[in-house]
Amino acid sequence: MLEEIKKAAEYIKAAVNDFEPETGIILGTGLGGFADRIETLFSLDYKDIPGFPVSTVEGHAGRLIFGRVEGRNVVAMQGRFHYYEGYTMQQVTFPVRVMKLLGIKRLFVSNASGGVNPAFRTGDLMIITDHINLMPNPLIGPNNPELGPRFPDMHNCYDSSMIALATQIAEAEGIKLQYGVYVGCTGPTFETQAEYRFYKAIGGDAGGMSTVPEVIVARHMSIPVFAVSVITNCGLSDEIGDHEDVQRQGRRAGERMAVLFEKMIKTL
Ligand code: HPA
Repeated sequence: MLEEIKKAAEYIKAAVNDFEPETGIILGTGLGGFADRIETLFSLDYKDIPGFPVSTVEGHAGRLIFGRVEGRNVVAMQGRFHYYEGYTMQQVTFPVRVMKLLGIKRLFVSNASGGVNPAFRTGDLMIITDHINLMPNPLIGPNNPELGPRFPDMHNCYDSSMIALATQIAEAEGIKLQYGVYVGCTGPTFETQAEYRFYKAIGGDAGGMSTVPEVIVARHMSIPVFAVSVITNCGLSDEIGDHEDVQRQGRRAGERMAVLFEKMIKTL
């Protein structure tokens, strides 16, 4: 696997004239609009990168964007790979491995999720403080110590100093934040009512179908992680708006998330 990761990284480095990103960003469903805030220097389609899986979900652009945000070098994944699409966990997390070789110092992750904390409202931003993994672990299989340890520590999985910075910025910008535990599940079905209740009972605040594999692999390679969930629906409530309402809420929250990311990148 290491050879494939190196090969992809070498291809990319040559294609972007050795541009060195400091921050890696994964843009979740409906959150690709952040790309408009990137002063784009290079854009590579996943299909052109050796070893890269190809996005299957419609509406996912499937490209790596290299450029500047507030003068800082970033690489953003517009479109990610989900386990429910049929990829292996190694494929789902391959881009994170490659971004590490490109030199990223931190990873920002975003996603859409269903809230189970009764205090949450549709459109809320939830800073992920911890997770519960109900998906297969992406590190199952032989471990290459060149990539990371056999038994990685998952304390401070979501970097507390970046959470503190997000809190400061949100206060200054008047952005309301929620904080909570993200439950990672495979999908593609949304949860039954009993499953949403189960998430709440085990200590979850929101559930979604991504993020956890990427975060585990990032932590395996000692990349500090900051992650945000947009609450697009409230799983336990009967008052879920129609699909358009949910999308509109998502887009609005996406704007706030973009401001948060931008100001954090400027400060870090
Ligand atoms: N469950 C899982 N994934 C999701 C949800 C949900 O309720 N909403 C958005 N992504």
